[in-house]
Amino acid sequence: MIADTVTTSSVKNGALRVALVTGSTSGIGESIARRLASDGMTVALHSRSSVERGKALAAELKHASYFQADLSQVDQCSSLIDAVLAQHGRLDVLVNCAGITEAIPHASIQQATPEIWRRLYEVNVIAPWVLVGAAEAALRKSAEEGVPACVLNISSHAGVRPKGASIPYAVSKAALNHMTKLLAATLAPAIRVNALAPGLVNTPLTQSWTDSQALWNERAPMGRAASPDDIADLAAMIVHSNYLTGEVIVADGGMNLT
Ligand SMILES: NC(=O)c1ccc[n+]([C@@H]2O[C@H](COP(=O)([O-])OP(=O)(O)OC[C@H]3O[C@@H](n4cnc5c(N)ncnc54)[C@H](OP(=O)(O)O)[C@@H]3O)[C@@H](O)[C@H]2O)c1
Repeated sequence: MIADTVTTSSVKNGALRVALVTGSTSGIGESIARRLASDGMTVALHSRSSVERGKALAAELKHASYFQADLSQVDQCSSLIDAVLAQHGRLDVLVNCAGITEAIPHASIQQATPEIWRRLYEVNVIAPWVLVGAAEAALRKSAEEGVPACVLNISSHAGVRPKGASIPYAVSKAALNHMTKLLAATLAPAIRVNALAPGLVNTPLTQSWTDSQALWNERAPMGRAASPDDIADLAAMIVHSNYLTGEVIVADGGMNLT
């Protein structure tokens, strides 16, 4: 029996739609997974190393499952999609949320080594690309039922403005934003591709960023950083749309206006 929170877009031809949310054992990804599950979707949770947390969440959320994969490894990106398809038999939504950062003052150019650039690109840019490629056939098959499939990339306001924890991080998110638009134009109308670009969000990643928190409290028109649930609300709106594509939606509490 499906809970009455199920939305029209969560069930197609009697089958629950399946959403893979990468990096969903913590922070923004966990909130998106919880939100999509409460909207009636089957959620495939994923993380790199927090296996026990992933299994506990899968046990808690109805119809959910958990998969471990290190997305810095290209072969593990492809096998993640294979494993989700083997378990659930379909894939309708791919949320690329797993991401890493490195805090380096922008003026410390020597500190931002090629090794750091490569590490951030592997997880923040190349992994979403490989995942979309591995998922394309399944997403196109989903769209044959009459509702476009969906890719949602969790980017950052740092990919839109000259800001962010470091230049390599900001550039990796700018690349993800541009990839979003190029893929949206390429994969339409079967697959919608959008990006959500949060400003500061209170997650384990940013727990110690007291300067940024003070900045958001003082300067952002909304007077605070986002909660993961604020971002999950927007993610759900994008996932449940049947029309939106090619957009990079900045969710920074209005900070870009200041
Ligand atoms: N928090 C913010 O202020 C903010 C702002 C703008 C954008 N974002 C973006 O939002 C996304 C989520 O951020 P968050 O703050 O929620 O992060 P978080 O709490 O640190 O969670 C990161 C998730 O990604 C997974 N992950 C990291 N590296 C991985 C890898 N190599 N392979 C597979 N999974 C990996 C982690 O798994 P393990 O725990 O197992 O390592 C975890 O589940 C990121 O893309 C980030 O850049 C965050």
